[in-house]
This record gives sequence, structure tokens and C-alpha cells, in this order.
Amino acid sequence: MPARPDEFLFPASDIPASVKAALGDDLELRPLAISDHARGHFELLTVLTAAPNIGKDAYIDRFEYLRSCPNTYYTVVIVHKATDQLVAVGTVFVERKFTRSGGLVAHIEDIAVSKKMQGRKLGLLIIKTLEELGRQAGCYKVILDCSKENIAFYEKCGRVSWNLEFKHKE
Ligand code: ACO
Repeated sequence: MPARPDEFLFPASDIPASVKAALGDDLELRPLAISDHARGHFELLTVLTAAPNIGKDAYIDRFEYLRSCPNTYYTVVIVHKATDQLVAVGTVFVERKFTRSGGLVAHIEDIAVSKKMQGRKLGLLIIKTLEELGRQAGCYKVILDCSKENIAFYEKCGRVSWNLEFKHKE
């Protein structure tokens, strides 16, 4: 059964209509829903990194925490309508700074497109949507970290600047 609007992380009306219109008829772009645990959210995230299933109760707790922070967390998903399964996901969250007169910075995180759907410009659509959500939230810049392998993808997306990230050795 498709997710109901009252299950969404943020109002679906925040997503620009122009982005939704660019999707194929077989797909829907919408906010993450509290019931998406059952639509393969963790399986989708494993194309990105280790994402063990934390179970339905922990998923609901995490979702409710994110939803309780107003105007901060925006996770969008693309759903394959015929199977009611998630095929793409991405997040932008809003950092509130003391600099720049209390400016806001958008951080793009955790972009994943299922292997069978890669190459259909879904990654590009997710990035455009997240960038627009960050802009609508009043952010003065949108940033992300990525591996060297993905730099070319983000350059093709064309709208975000990328930064090198330094990690501690494990
Ligand atoms: N390297 C170079 N170019 C790429 C790459 C890549 N890894 N991936 C896509 N592109 C190009 C495409 O060829 C296309 O170019 P074109 O416009 O000239 O035809 C353009 O980028 C847009 O591609 P999409 O079809 O939108 O890409 P896709 O939907 O396949 O998603 C993504 C790309 C998100 C990198 C996907 O392959 C994926 O999920 N990979 C595994 C997880 C991952 O690495 N996520 C990003 C982590 S970084 C972060 O989350 C901030």
C-alpha cells in the first residue's frame, strides 16, 4: 500500500513540481515515510555503505526524532510504483551557524540509487531536489563530501561545489 501524506518526514508540497514532472510514469518522488522500513530502505542504502537493518521499532524512533526537528532534515525517496519499493534516496540537512549572522548551510548526504536503476538520471534528480530544498530553507550554500570516484558525477550535476574530506585512518 502506498505511503500516506501524514507519514511523511516533511510536507510533499516542499518538493518542486518541475522535478516531479521529470520522472518517468513508473516512478514517484516523495519525502521519506515512517513506513519505508518495509519498502527496502536499508537494502537500498547498502549500495552506498554498510547499512544493517536496525529493525522497525528503532527505525520509527529515529524517524520520529528527525521529524521532531523542524525545518532541518529532508530525506527524499524515489519509489518504483509497481513494486512499491524504494529505488533512490538522498538527504539534505540544515546546519545553523553562529557565523554569517546566524547563517544556514545545507549538507547533502547519503545519495543511493539501486543498481538496476542507475544511469536513468535519478541521482541527478535527487541532487536537484535536495539543492532546491536547501535553497528554500534559506541556506547560503550547499556542500557535500564524496569519494574521488564520484567527483565526476557531482561535477555533471553542476550545481554543487565539492570539498576534500580528511578521515582518520582506522
Ligand atoms: N562517475 C562519473 N560519472 C557518473 C558516475 C560516476 N560514478 N555516476 C553517474 N555519472 C554520470 C552519468 O553518466 C550521467 O552523465 P550524462 O549526463 O553525461 O549522461 C550523470 O553522471 C548523471 O547520472 P545519473 O544517471 O543521474 O546517476 P545515477 O542515477 O546512476 O546515480 C550515483 C549516481 C548516486 C553515484 C549512483 O551510481 C550510486 O548510488 N552509487 C553508489 C552509492 C554512491 O556512491 N553514492 C554517492 C555517495 S556521496 C554522497 O552521498 C554525498
